[in-house]
Amino acid sequence: MIEAPHKEVDELRQGEAYAPFTNDPNTFKKKFYIESYGCQMNFSDSEIVASILFNEGYGPTRNYEEADLVLLNTCSIREKAEQTVRNRLQAFRKVKEKNSGMLIGVLGCMAERLKAKFLEEEKLVDIVVGPDAYRSLPDLIAETEGGQKSVNVLLSREETYADIAPVRLDSNGVSAFVSIMRGCNNMCTFCVVPFTRGRERSRDANSILNECQVLFDSGYREVTLLGQNVDSYYHTNADDSAVTFALLLERVALISPLLRVRFSTSHPKDITDDVLYTMAKYHNICKYIHLPVQSGNTRILSQMNRTYTREWYIHKVNRIREIMPDCGLSTDVISGFCTETEEEHQDTLSLMEICRFDMAYMFSYSERPGTLAARRFTDDVPEDVKKRRLIEIITLQNGHSRESYKLDIGKTFEVLIEADSKRSEADWSGRNSQNKVVVFPKGTADLKKGDYAHVRINEATSATLIGVRVS
Ligand code: SAH
Ligand code: SF4
Ligand code: F3S
Repeated sequence: MIEAPHKEVDELRQGEAYAPFTNDPNTFKKKFYIESYGCQMNFSDSEIVASILFNEGYGPTRNYEEADLVLLNTCSIREKAEQTVRNRLQAFRKVKEKNSGMLIGVLGCMAERLKAKFLEEEKLVDIVVGPDAYRSLPDLIAETEGGQKSVNVLLSREETYADIAPVRLDSNGVSAFVSIMRGCNNMCTFCVVPFTRGRERSRDANSILNECQVLFDSGYREVTLLGQNVDSYYHTNADDSAVTFALLLERVALISPLLRVRFSTSHPKDITDDVLYTMAKYHNICKYIHLPVQSGNTRILSQMNRTYTREWYIHKVNRIREIMPDCGLSTDVISGFCTETEEEHQDTLSLMEICRFDMAYMFSYSERPGTLAARRFTDDVPEDVKKRRLIEIITLQNGHSRESYKLDIGKTFEVLIEADSKRSEADWSGRNSQNKVVVFPKGTADLKKGDYAHVRINEATSATLIGVRVS
């Protein structure tokens, strides 16, 4: 079976256990272990959960075998994401058989989708908590003390966890995610997120700004503002003044020119010229937009309820490049959505040719129970056709990525240093404004993580730029 690159795996070391803290583990009365799957929102939520548990006297461990509480923060976006979680639970089963006191909790989108059914399907699970119910985790843990199971999957119209300071997990100390909104009001027919995350709500702007300021003051140099559809961020302050996404971006950018600002994800229908001009105005707002297209065919887009046409999307991309000629652009593509014909698939390939994305996350359509598509349409593109179309999409994109990276040879970029390079401790690894990974020799210069360096590129693969520092 062919696997499309998985956004979450690539960017976030899917499923990696977190154990961040500097605090002495001996001071904690109990230990928790947490694994996260899915999108950045889930990873960000795990940091909220860690904070809640921290206050209850729980400390982290990287070894689930010694944990009192094992948590899986789950994703339902595609069937495979759910299968991964089920497999993972089997690994925990063995440990639980030896240590019956160990509690196993399922958080996140799969918890929300399956609710109490999860407890019937997976007998070893003790706690099921949906994305809006993490504050109740201590009560749910207490409920299990008598041996019973506990569930809270209530969705909320207000919850944004605005007042909870996330405990940064597995952080490089340079870049952090900051949730600015929750839920999604778009009803893309293929998508389970509106059902698992509930209605869209924006977090109080001041609490976002405070969190970013605190991060900056503690040495962080990059924040990524997170939401399923950040461009529809809208918050009304107590004095009735409104904060739009463009305004929020600007305020975060003004914290310091040394603080890079990124955001994800933008919906093509909602990203405004205001946002583009704000990006162009501030050097520290990164010139990179992730703009999921899903399909290059207008009929399919309409069937997906994406509310834009092929032409609208192409126009948006042109507008972005007009305002920011150096802007990096990536996308998401789905192959084989219900009723997609061969010609309509060709439209996706031709749109990719026109837009020339620097990078893409590509998937074959996976029907999710309860979604509008599952209720209205038949999942009628055979699996082998979906896969073949996906390979064509991936092959085309690989060529475009290689070309995009090659075109950077000879250019000089400002790079924020994030870590040692994976390959060698003698090299730094960081990213340029366009979100491309840049690797360069440390040399004798006195640089450290969180510093900026100017790097001239002299080599490129399809996913990394390699260069040397220039002063
Ligand atoms: N809020 C983001 C997307 C979140 S889900 C947005 O609107 O852009 C991330 C990506 O997963 C989507 O962009 C889509 O490409 C893919 N995806 C979502 N549901 C899917 C499904 N049922 N089958 C295959 N891919 C899916
Ligand atoms: Fe899903 Fe569409 Fe909302 Fe993105 S915008 S989370 S694809 S419903
Ligand atoms: Fe998955 Fe839920 Fe995110 S379904 S992609 S974890 S919002």
